[in-house]
Amino acid sequence: MAAPDYSEKIPNNVRLHEDRRLQRALESWQPSFLSWWREMGPTLPTQDVYLRTAIDVRGEGWAQFGHVPMPEYRWGIFLAERDPGREIGFGAHKGEPAWQQVPGEYRAELRRLIVIQGDTEPASVEQQRNLGATAPSLYDLRNLFQVNVEEGRHLWAMVYLLHGYFGREGREEAEELLHRNSGSSDAPRILGAFNEETPDWLSFFMFTYFTDRDGKYQLGTLKESAFDPLSRTCEFMLKEEAHHMMVGTTGVDRVVERTAQVMVENDTDDVAAHGAIPLDVIQKYLNFHYSVSLDLFGGETSTNVANYYSAGLKGRWLEERRADDHVLTHDSFMVDALLDDGTGGKTIGQLEVPALTGLNTDLRREYIADCAGGVKRWNRILESAGLPHRLSLPHVAFNRKVGAFAVIETSPAGEQLSAAEWERRKDQWLPTETDKAFVRSLMQPVYERGKIAAWIAPPRGAPNGGGINGQPFAYDYVHLA
Ligand SMILES: [Fe+2]
Ligand SMILES: [Fe+2]
Repeated sequence: MAAPDYSEKIPNNVRLHEDRRLQRALESWQPSFLSWWREMGPTLPTQDVYLRTAIDVRGEGWAQFGHVPMPEYRWGIFLAERDPGREIGFGAHKGEPAWQQVPGEYRAELRRLIVIQGDTEPASVEQQRNLGATAPSLYDLRNLFQVNVEEGRHLWAMVYLLHGYFGREGREEAEELLHRNSGSSDAPRILGAFNEETPDWLSFFMFTYFTDRDGKYQLGTLKESAFDPLSRTCEFMLKEEAHHMMVGTTGVDRVVERTAQVMVENDTDDVAAHGAIPLDVIQKYLNFHYSVSLDLFGGETSTNVANYYSAGLKGRWLEERRADDHVLTHDSFMVDALLDDGTGGKTIGQLEVPALTGLNTDLRREYIADCAGGVKRWNRILESAGLPHRLSLPHVAFNRKVGAFAVIETSPAGEQLSAAEWERRKDQWLPTETDKAFVRSLMQPVYERGKIAAWIAPPRGAPNGGGINGQPFAYDYVHLA
């Protein structure tokens, strides 16, 4: 079961050859996927890229590395190994055997959850398709393409579930996943953040840090699912996601490091003149990507999500580590809310709700705690450069378009503002056209081995180390066409 079979047209570890109908259905979807990749995937012409490909779903040595022409990447279907004794860990069916098939009564909800997850995967490839033209190094270019091919594989992961378990409706949804496109006016992607463009590499690193990290948390809840094939699919996707998180975390590290360096060398905050990105612009990008990513977790309270939990479709982050009854019907939870201040106005506060209804907030809080880790690391870089400046996460109510705080405006500190005040001050907190144009002006490609753009530091260990799979930073990661 564990070892993917690469002799087949679609590499897989699900014994696809034993189910001819499913195999044929997926083989007929494959050309549509490839033409989507050609039309909507990376635009920079390349001969080949040093990519990892999964060869096992278990621990050490699960991937192999080699130069591959991207359209020939072996996108496949890989599920983590099955635990035959697995039991449902939460909700009304807690303790029952995990489902190997979709129960009729939850079919529509499960399909919806898989489609929403599936829609984000190709969306990010579309958002990032032009970034190759401005890569700061071959190393970064390779990391971008690695993330792209794996998001393509995650689409395969969801399409396998749709084709394998949801019949004709599943096959139709799989078509739609290629039909919707990021930013399209008539058929946009489902979630707002996935229709925003990723126009420059600072945005890319912020996206992989904040928005991909939302993906990690969504996958974490689906990994708990009673529907075992979904759980096993997400478990393996999380393994691949770890690299995407690394790209974002260290990408922002390296931008901050370079900025700090230039600030110290020139004894100024105004590093733009020296070809680096000013800290306040980095903070604005952080504010933007963090706040749109918070929106991805939905409203503070949700009866849909309560139902998903009770039905066993979607659990909590690290469900098994929670010290409660995993049913939650008698528990309550404090969620962020907009409360009456007693004088006709609104104030930001907390509201006690049934624990099941507050699950979106629970997941968002786990995510926020994780995001704080990045800010801490970036601030350590500033500290060791001897600078007093610090980055910070904006208040949870800042720049929100979804949930309780969508109706108010606040400063990053959480102070409520009138609409006029917000209009007057928002350019201090969110990237302006001038900021974006400046960042774009720095985005000149560097395709020479071992070289790097001036606005970002090389990875630690460069040039002889610091690369991928033990290779040096100066390795020939990408051969351009
Ligand atoms: Fe993904
Ligand atoms: Fe990802």
